[in-house]
Amino acid sequence: MANPQPPSDIDALLRNNRAWAASTVRADPHFFQRLAGQQTPKYLWIGCSDSRVPANQITGMQPGEVFVHRNIANVVVHADLNCLSVIQFAVDVLKVEHIIVCGHYGCGGVHAVLHDTRVGLADNWLRHVGDVAQKHRAVLAHVGSDAHRHALLCDLNAIEQAINVCQSTVVRDAWARGQALSVHGWVYALRDGLLRALTPGIADSAAIEPAYQAALARIHALTQ
Ligand code: CO
Repeated sequence: MANPQPPSDIDALLRNNRAWAASTVRADPHFFQRLAGQQTPKYLWIGCSDSRVPANQITGMQPGEVFVHRNIANVVVHADLNCLSVIQFAVDVLKVEHIIVCGHYGCGGVHAVLHDTRVGLADNWLRHVGDVAQKHRAVLAHVGSDAHRHALLCDLNAIEQAINVCQSTVVRDAWARGQALSVHGWVYALRDGLLRALTPGIADSAAIEPAYQAALARIHALTQ
């Protein structure tokens, strides 16, 4: 049986929206006119769908400042037309200057992979995170606690997905024609609301491997 939310809850969203729009116009009378004209975000955010990691809020960005793609466990797959289309539009049309792939500790997708929990259709999607765990099984096996292993896989997954962005034809072509574009792997901590950079900014093809090795070396040092 479907269990629809009470109308009052959903009506509250519409009421909240009207209040927000009105207060925004009070603070900046031309805000919506300006935004409706064009969007010129400098950033593309690729993050987890988790409701606790809203890109705009945690980075202090207003509407119009960040182009966003979110999926379960912030995965970037080279055959995913949805994510690739977002990257292509962001890079070729919007000309964003930075792409941020952001993982987060406490990620349910990462947890399901580590504990081999079946969640349903999404298991097939999470297999990509399973591939990351498989690739780094030696370092993951080396850590003592479940919590530490979870945090480590969150880090490794964000790093690997950032590298996948770098390896995409869209980003490589942008770099080949001299477009200024940096890719970053970050992770967000639910417990304190803080972001941490896991990779240096990667701004050309030659920088991919050194950045990857530097990120992994840092992680390995933390697990010793
Ligand atoms: Co998540």
